[in-house]
Amino acid sequence: MNQKINHLTEEINQLLATSIEESLLDTNLEESMRYSLNAGGKRIRPVLLLLTLDMLSNDYKLGFSSALGLEMIHTYSLIHDDLPAMDDDDYRRGKLTNHKVFGEWKAILAGDALLTKAFDVIINDTTLDDAIKVKLIRRLSFSSGHLGMVGGQTLDMQSEGSAIDLTTLEQIHNAKTGALLKFAVMAAVDIAEPETLVATALEQYSEHLGLMFQIKDDLLDIYGDEQKLGKAVGSDIENDKSTYVSLLGRSGAEDKLAYHTQAAHQCLAQLPDHYNTENLEAIIQLFNNRES
Ligand code: IPE
Ligand code: IPE
Ligand code: MG
Ligand code: MG
Ligand code: MG
Repeated sequence: MNQKINHLTEEINQLLATSIEESLLDTNLEESMRYSLNAGGKRIRPVLLLLTLDMLSNDYKLGFSSALGLEMIHTYSLIHDDLPAMDDDDYRRGKLTNHKVFGEWKAILAGDALLTKAFDVIINDTTLDDAIKVKLIRRLSFSSGHLGMVGGQTLDMQSEGSAIDLTTLEQIHNAKTGALLKFAVMAAVDIAEPETLVATALEQYSEHLGLMFQIKDDLLDIYGDEQKLGKAVGSDIENDKSTYVSLLGRSGAEDKLAYHTQAAHQCLAQLPDHYNTENLEAIIQLFNNRES
């Protein structure tokens, strides 16, 4: 893997490891939060945020608080996604799911607390101007909420067992998965404030990445290796979900993946020459070839 990606993943892991402070309350809520947050995970969203910022500016560290907040919200979304009331899965990031270890009510509360903590981390960042923090918080709340990830998860659950068309499926994917990936790229835009042409090309890049990511997730849910994924395969079929594979078959889903891969490259090609797009190109490769 690209060395820069490895390095940033390590930095994110270190920051996450100390991000949840002890409370004075006699509960193990923090243990439950840390269990999922530090269970591993690819850290692809925070890394994408930092790589985008690194390309746009000379100080990627200004992205740390939004990168951490983003990974906290992503982790909460996974804790809740795995609950019996939703996808009912037992393994995540190579370990038992949060509710299997801590019980359902604590898993719900650990998710709630991670969601809230994300905003706390950004607001307490002393390296960013207040105006930028407001922009980031506005974007993160939009991306996570009913018009973003939560809205997509709702549509996903509501569509279980029913035949939906490709347009609806694309809407679900854009919202449940695309919204947080778009946040990763656009938070860097909020911090670095590049010209409009650059912001627009990057936004489109992030939209193709979002679809690539979930199409691959759908493929891996059937054809992937449980050991590598750290989660069980077959969850989508068991829950009667509509996916790219159920709608288009394996090769149809792979064609869509190839289409969005190509389109993502084209978005980067629109950027002015002085931007070094090497690492954002590497992310496209990673999304295309990943096995976990
Ligand atoms: C899984 O995300 C949930 C989806 C949006 C498909 P990741 O595949 O990024 O999971 P982790 O963070 O590496 O565990
Ligand atoms: C979940 O999609 C996306 C989230 C917002 C959590 P999936 O339900 O397909 O994710 P996995 O396959 O369980 O990781
Ligand atoms: Mg799900
Ligand atoms: Mg799931
Ligand atoms: Mg899945």
